[in-house]
Amino acid sequence: MPEAITSVQAEQPGENGNSLPKRPLLELIDISKEFDVRDNGRRATLSAVNEVSLKVRTGRTLGIVGESGCGKSTLARVIVGLHAASSGEMLFENRQIETTGRRPRKIVEQMQMVFQDPSSALNPRATVGESIGFPLRVQGASKKEIDARVKQVITDVGLPASYVGNYPHQLSGGQRQRVNIARALALQPKLVVLDEAVSALDKSIQAQVLNLLADLQRDYQLTYVFISHDLNVVEYISDEVAVMYLGQVVEEGSAKALYENPRHPYTQLLLSSIPTLDPAQSNRDEPIGAGDSEIPSPISPPSGCRFRTRCPFVMDICSEVLPPRVEAAPEHIVACHLYSEGAERNDGAVAAAAS
Ligand SMILES: Nc1ncnc2c1ncn2[C@@H]1O[C@H](COP(=O)(O)OP(=O)(O)OP(=O)(O)O)[C@@H](O)[C@H]1O
Ligand code: SF4
Ligand SMILES: [Mg+2]
Repeated sequence: MPEAITSVQAEQPGENGNSLPKRPLLELIDISKEFDVRDNGRRATLSAVNEVSLKVRTGRTLGIVGESGCGKSTLARVIVGLHAASSGEMLFENRQIETTGRRPRKIVEQMQMVFQDPSSALNPRATVGESIGFPLRVQGASKKEIDARVKQVITDVGLPASYVGNYPHQLSGGQRQRVNIARALALQPKLVVLDEAVSALDKSIQAQVLNLLADLQRDYQLTYVFISHDLNVVEYISDEVAVMYLGQVVEEGSAKALYENPRHPYTQLLLSSIPTLDPAQSNRDEPIGAGDSEIPSPISPPSGCRFRTRCPFVMDICSEVLPPRVEAAPEHIVACHLYSEGAERNDGAVAAAAS
């Protein structure tokens, strides 16, 4: 765990891993997203997200992890409506919302997104005040209302109100990301999707922004979907975590359960490769299944279990049948034939082989 993150962990209320409220703000049911692409000059279909079902609980943080290209950003964009889903359903506050077409403005406003690159997300020719106030202007708010709201949110994200007249190039990376967060909060959303929102920042600034996000979650009663390739950061900020592999969710559970007792062979691979600052705790040199560890193409994903080409526990059934989602422990779901009904439960052997 990097020092800067350890230092903010002490300030985090100890909710991580405690019993979670049941009521989801957002529910995804079998969401898929396919892209039409060209592969060696031929038309092909790329399966970026495949039948993902997840619940995002009110006031909590769902972390999403997985290797580059596994579909995290695509899923984020489908959630906030920037991509139309190819199929699947979504419930927001228990009401079905549009996944393949235009959504009512009220729904759009309640789900905001913060992107990785704080610079490119801001118009270089707009002042901080103009950027933050833009969504309010679109909404038809008066100048007086916009000025008051901008002043409020800019202060809430820890910037001086005097920054309203500054341009993005006059700010540091961390300050620019605070402006992006302020803009996302301007319309008082219920859900904020953060896609690698701290990944471009230095470790010390990262810790400050993570602290800010925790404060804002409490003060604004926000629900977060937090996407990152940094497993330490996800463990720190998340109440629950979903692990994605090649467009599918392979394991989900409370952050505590998942990090302490990862069950899916892919999650074990990911966690075994977390960098540590402690030289006494060496990481594995080779990930599991390293002999054949190239990630398959989402244009022609493996049949059955998509992880089977890299899995050291692969069985005949794995190439034939999609592993069902199984509750391997209370509220800890795994999609792997090792945990299917009738299969010999073998958590110990899987853990031993991966350690
Ligand atoms: N607009 C698009 N058109 C075609 N393919 C796309 C498009 N957007 C994403 N993809 C493909 O979908 C897959 C998932 O991409 P995505 O950006 O969602 O992954 P990611 O998990 O966010 O990766 P990273 O960690 O690198 O950000 C990749 O194979 C990517 O090339
Ligand atoms: S279903 Fe089979 S191939 Fe997939 S992770 Fe489980 S054991 Fe490995
Ligand atoms: Mg991404």
